[in-house]
Amino acid sequence: MRDFVKVNEVGPRDGLQSQGQTLSLEQRLRMIEVLLQAGIRAVEAGSFVSPRAVPQMAGTGELFARLPMRAEVDYSALIPNLKGYQLARDAGVESVAVVLSATETMNQRNINMSLAQTTEVCAQLMQQARADGVNARAYVAVAFECPFEGPTPPQVVQALTHRMLEAGADTVIIADTIGAANPAAVQRLLQPLAQWCQAGRLSCHFHDTRGMALANVLAALQCGVREFDSSIGGLGGCPFSPGATGNLATEDLVLMLDAMGYRTGIEPLALVEAIHQVQLLTGGQLGGHAFRWLERQWHKQQEARNV
Ligand code: COA
Ligand code: ZN
Repeated sequence: MRDFVKVNEVGPRDGLQSQGQTLSLEQRLRMIEVLLQAGIRAVEAGSFVSPRAVPQMAGTGELFARLPMRAEVDYSALIPNLKGYQLARDAGVESVAVVLSATETMNQRNINMSLAQTTEVCAQLMQQARADGVNARAYVAVAFECPFEGPTPPQVVQALTHRMLEAGADTVIIADTIGAANPAAVQRLLQPLAQWCQAGRLSCHFHDTRGMALANVLAALQCGVREFDSSIGGLGGCPFSPGATGNLATEDLVLMLDAMGYRTGIEPLALVEAIHQVQLLTGGQLGGHAFRWLERQWHKQQEARNV
């Protein structure tokens, strides 16, 4: 039996939050529909944050009420604080992800709380989610480097990860918010963590800013990680961290996992159609490293079907 790797699509949240234009709820729903058509079954659909801070995510409660295939899809939402948790609960969200940045400045800039306050709030939210039967996820952001404070000491990230797991987090997502990781740094950070907890409770979120996201995935796979975030066509960034460009592209991740013999449930060529559709919605050029090649294979497949 080939190993299953969970691909968690974050385009509708991490991707859209940094776009210049704000998509309508209909357009956000359309985007999610095309992702599901490509076989994606785990989606971070939006965030419950201040609409003044991130107007692109306004109306996420209504979005959740209208999401398709709720029973078959593992939908989650990002929350920054207790109010976000309450809004998510009211909207019937079954999986929430808190954001704990590993540095003082990043927490202040992102959610206007100190590192100590954020750690406390996130720990409480993890406990609360567990008690409510909600899947509890915690991002540890700027896990390799902070745009304001420079390199992040691995011990700090490891300690925050322990704290979140002890508080009841089902999964901790190690997030390279500005795409500054490299495979050696990934192994230094993850190996001790994977020994301490089960690697099955870890996930990784890489950005491809310096072209090393797939190499980082390989390093994480070698440490036993079997869950990754990615974004369709590499859409994304973070409005609060300068330099955070595109996420690891879903098509690059799926193609590499598929070629290595892992199961993802996603057909790489089916992602081409999804990327075309998301390009129409967002109006920008999309596509990871493998997109042009995939597109050519997809054209050949279409021609063969039309013969
Ligand atoms: N969702 C919606 N509104 C929220 C909210 C949430 N999760 N948390 C607070 N608010 C509202 C408050 O009700 C209040 O509204 P009012 O002015 O109409 O009374 C207002 O926001 C200010 O509340 P306060 O608690 O003082 O928040 P703040 O100004 O310190 O901002 C955050 C804190 C977390 C709400 C804000 O920084 C934020 O939304 N950040 C999002 C960051 C993000 O999405 N980053 C990218 C992903 S990592
Ligand atoms: Zn990100």
